[in-house]
Formats: sequence, structure tokens, C-alpha cells
Amino acid sequence: MNLALFLAELDELLAEAQLAFNLAANPAALEAARIEYLGAAKGRLKAVQKGLGAVAKEDKPAAGKRFNEVKTAIEAAFEAAQQRAATAGPATKAGEQFDPTIPGKPLRLGRLHPITQTIEELKDIMGRLGFTAADGPEIEDEWHNFEALNIPLDHPARDPLENFYLSVAASQGTGDGGQGTGEKRQPLLLRSQTSTVQIRVMEQRQPPIRIISLGRVYRPDAADATHFPMFHQMEGLLIDKHATMADLKSVLRMFATSYLGADVHVRFRPSFFPFTEPSVEADMQWEDRWIEFGGAGMVDPHVLTAVGYDPEVYTGFAFGLGVERLCMRRHGITDIREFYKNDVRFLAQF
Ligand code: FA5
Repeated sequence: MNLALFLAELDELLAEAQLAFNLAANPAALEAARIEYLGAAKGRLKAVQKGLGAVAKEDKPAAGKRFNEVKTAIEAAFEAAQQRAATAGPATKAGEQFDPTIPGKPLRLGRLHPITQTIEELKDIMGRLGFTAADGPEIEDEWHNFEALNIPLDHPARDPLENFYLSVAASQGTGDGGQGTGEKRQPLLLRSQTSTVQIRVMEQRQPPIRIISLGRVYRPDAADATHFPMFHQMEGLLIDKHATMADLKSVLRMFATSYLGADVHVRFRPSFFPFTEPSVEADMQWEDRWIEFGGAGMVDPHVLTAVGYDPEVYTGFAFGLGVERLCMRRHGITDIREFYKNDVRFLAQF
């Protein structure tokens, strides 16, 4: 036999044997492959060995050398496969086959909470009306939550039972570590309204101002279908030289129709807030009922003075809307508590 032909036959045998051992998915398949290639009586290696006798005498040393190499390599491939089978995990246990055609397990993708989605959309709508987003802390002092908003010490809104006061207080004053006589302790509380951000923004900036602020607020309200002790508000504030109540109504109407649709009915009821004068309550119609979605009004001159603005020069309006109530109205959700039960069957619908 021609040497080149013999060597090619050996190469082919080696490649096929390695493949067969690698693909054997269980001990039975591996044993079948062993018998096919390494079987003492009818194995294919044995058959090729017989061809060695037919190689020309002068080619025998080269052919024999290569035969031995291939034999060693095939035996090594078998031993490696045997080793793998012995240490393999449950997927390759006897009888089990790895089937690469089975579709993979789908990944469960998370999504944003419906209130987070609502906040993004509200920011978008108000952004188109020229309002940029501002932020404030959830732990507040009494100045920003009450005093600067014209809510005096004896006002019922400051009742400890109406608020989540913290047992720690902020130290203010002489900076002597709280030891000196000049120090005043400021009680702290979880903010009960986002109107705090009005003050924080006005303290830092000069008019014209056109901001919204979206975030959590806290009140010890008993949870029912429309109340929750933690909820979200969207605060709006516009301060300029000629801002009027008509501008406030236009902005709130444009906002309501952008978010809820052109057919939404909105009404304004006279109301009272210490930090706006005049004040209104904004309601929207829902299933033959009027639901309050926020309070609003013209910024009280006392508030403008508290932050150092001249009320003779500037006017402005402010509003504070309940984000959950807007989202509920939009999606026909009848119970605010659904948002915070963490029931994926509810949340996955948004
Ligand atoms: C205020 O919080 C005022 N700061 C609003 C304001 C801002 C008036 C600027 C004037 C100028 P009120 O307490 O009414 O107002 O709350 C506003 C809205 O928050 C309500 O209309 C309602 O939609 C929502 N809200 C109030 N309490 C809860 C609650 N416990 N759970 C869910 N939403 C609530």
C-alpha cells in the first residue's frame, strides 16, 4: 500500500475517533465508541493495523511510527472522555442527553413601577410646558415644611399626630457641638408635602422660576382606597412678573388634558392653604364622582417675603397634585393600596 494513503487513513481515523469520544453523551455511548475504534477483534484501529503489512518495506518504519502515535492519541481521547463522564454533573447522568435544540428558558425582565412610569410621564408633559424638575430632601425641618410656608406654630397641620416627627433633631446655631447656650434644636420630620421644595428653590434662585418637583411625602393617614401613609406629589411653582390665576388654570387644564385625555372634566373649588391666596382645590370627574387631585393657588405674599422676594414686583402660582390619584384615574385603578402590595400580577400589567 502507498505510504501517503496509509497515513491519510490514519489521520482520518484519529479525527473520527476523537469526535466520537467527545460526542458520547453517556457511558453506554462511550462504550459503543470504544468498541468501534479500539475493539480488540473488529475495531477500526485493528483493521487499519492490518493495512500496515501491505505497506512497502522501505516505508514501514515511518508508517509504524505514525500508527503508534495515532493509537496512543485515540486511547488518550477515550480515557479523557471516560474521565469527563465520571466527573460530569447531573446533566450527563446515565440516560440523560443534552439536547441543544430545546429552546432556552426565557429571562424574566423587570419593569418600572407604575408610579415611577407615571412620574416620568408627568415630567415629560410639564417639561413641554417649560417646567424643569427640582429635588428636595424627604427629611425636613419645620422651617421648610411649615414656617416659610406661612403655617404658624398653632396650626393644626403641625400637630405631632398629623405628622411623622423624628426623634432626632437638627442642631442649628453656634456650631459648638450642641454644648453652648446659643444653640437651637430644630425638630425634624418626614415631609408632609412637596411644597417644601418651593421654599428650597426660591431660597437659592431668583425669579423667573418655573419648576416641578416629584417625590414621596408622608402622613399618618389610615390607608383606604384613596389614601396611603406614603404617597407621591407633584409640586409646581411659577414665579414671574405678571403671573395670574388665569395662567394657573390654563397650566392645570393643559396638564390634565395631556395626561388624562381631552374629555377629562376638571373643576376648581375655592379652598384654603396658608401659603396661597386665593387657593383652590382641583377636582376631576371619575365615574360620576369628583375626585380631588390637588391643591393650588397664587403664592401668598408672606411666602415671597420669607424667601426674600419683593411681593410688589413678583407674583406666582403653585400647585401640589397627588401622583397616585392621577395614575389611578388614568388606568382605572380603584384602590391605591394595590401599588404597594408588591403583587407582581398587578404590577406586571403596566
Ligand atoms: C397639599 O399637600 C398642598 N401642599 C398642595 C398645594 C401645593 C396647595 C401648592 C397649594 C399650592 P393636600 O393636603 O390637599 O395639599 O394634598 C394634595 C393632594 O395629595 C390631594 O389632593 C391628594 O390628591 C393627594 N393626597 C393627600 N393625602 C393623600 C394620601 N394620604 N394618599 C394619597 N394621596 C393623598
